[in-house]
Amino acid sequence: MTKKILTVASAFLAIVFFAFLISNPLTGEEHTGILNFIGRFHPVVLHLPIGFFVLLAIFELITPVYGKFKEAATFILILTIGVTILAVSTGILLAYAGGADEPLVVYHMRVSLILGILTLELGVLKLYGGKAISTVAYKVTLFACLLMLFVSSHNGGSITHGEDYLTKHMPNALRTMFGLEIEEVKVVASVDDLEVYGDVVHTIFEQNCNTCHNPNKKKGDLDMESYEGLLKGGEMGYSIAAGELEDSELYYRITLPHDDEDFMPTDGKPPLSDTEVEVIGWWIQEGADPVKTVGAHDGVPGNVYSYFQSIFDSMVSEEELERRRIERENLYLGLTKLHDEIGLIVIPIESEASEFSIETFAIQKTFDDSTLAKLVPYADKVVEANFSSTQLTDEALDSLLKFENLRSLNLSKTKIQGQQFNKLVALKNLESLNLYGTELSSERVSELSQLTQLKNLYLFQTELYEESVLAQLKESLPNCNFVLN
Ligand code: HEC
Repeated sequence: MTKKILTVASAFLAIVFFAFLISNPLTGEEHTGILNFIGRFHPVVLHLPIGFFVLLAIFELITPVYGKFKEAATFILILTIGVTILAVSTGILLAYAGGADEPLVVYHMRVSLILGILTLELGVLKLYGGKAISTVAYKVTLFACLLMLFVSSHNGGSITHGEDYLTKHMPNALRTMFGLEIEEVKVVASVDDLEVYGDVVHTIFEQNCNTCHNPNKKKGDLDMESYEGLLKGGEMGYSIAAGELEDSELYYRITLPHDDEDFMPTDGKPPLSDTEVEVIGWWIQEGADPVKTVGAHDGVPGNVYSYFQSIFDSMVSEEELERRRIERENLYLGLTKLHDEIGLIVIPIESEASEFSIETFAIQKTFDDSTLAKLVPYADKVVEANFSSTQLTDEALDSLLKFENLRSLNLSKTKIQGQQFNKLVALKNLESLNLYGTELSSERVSELSQLTQLKNLYLFQTELYEESVLAQLKESLPNCNFVLN
């Protein structure tokens, strides 16, 4: 009796699946509500059939040898049928309610429906099993199921992650074996040689838009993977109108308030940065050319140019990377030697970076002008230097001027008197100068007044720490903050 009920139920479900298979319920229209809610469980439950089918295959393979697994295999089959029906049904809901109608989704749905029908068939064959013919049919059907499962999972993966997801980071040797194209790392000689569209704008699209706007998944009927697709536009017509920002739907979409429902990228994906928006806008205004290089444009705005520069910096060749690595290694070796020799402490500003901070705290008594001279070969790598309480005098000035990238210089409690300190104006990045507790006389006002690059100046316990002198300094250095304690 149960046998009959189960057979009828399977046949009914198989007919429903078959009806879907030949009719294609996808309209491309979104349907919000409970259907959409249930459909979104598809990415969760779809893993169950994959696991159970593999398990089932293993059990069926070993039952001829270990008969005791026979009943377990039947139990796994029942579970497999259940989760497969669940995955196929939620999948149909997801595609229908989510408004999908791309060819790849339709294909994925069809293969999965066939898998669903075959799985039901598998159950019926098991019910009436025992005879040689149905055992063979069972095995053939199971094999067909595994095949469909493979195709279906692969398509499903491509829908969510993009078609080249699995192969994107495949090593070149393997790519050649599988007959895939080898991606050359593009190297250009200078920023001016970058193609604005190909190397920059297209990359922004690729990273932020193309998961939804590609030939297989054309949301809004817009394919942004190729230049042609971009020009063709989508449902609203032009996405890009060369030279006309107001007529460019694409620019309109990325400049809307981020909570506007038409804002792109949609679905809570991170918005483009202000500079990225600026770069795209500038490119459209300049005529949205597909091949023009940076150098072929006149008067590139500063922000946009800096963005190009950062892209160029990230495109360095293997040789250049190797050269930088060796340079950094030699630098570390040299600095380690200095540490062993004079006890200087050198701290990298960031890991991997070639900028350093130096600290003389432990060697104040022996660190003098001649010790400083030993640091000169590395001077351009130092951005912060603490020489507090060392024996430095005005003789150190020539060496100090070699530290051309210094941002912060601490000379507090040294023997420095500040004659010719006006020369420090050459250290263009110097923001912070600490002269606390030095013997600088109030006459040094005229030298210090010239250091207009400073943002912080420490003068506590010096002759300069006096109201009339400070007033004079404040007038010459209006952007400087005087730290007085
Ligand atoms: C998560 C998916 C998704 C992402 C990512 C996405 N879009 Fe869209 N896009 C859509 C959907 C859905 C539509 C159709 C509904 C609509 O018009 O708002 C659409 C429509 C558009 C349209 C209108 C096409 C037309 O003519 O109707 C433009 C232009 C657009 N997107 C540009 C972009 C840009 C630029 C990005 C990247 C910065 C982007 N999209 C990222 C899903 C996405």
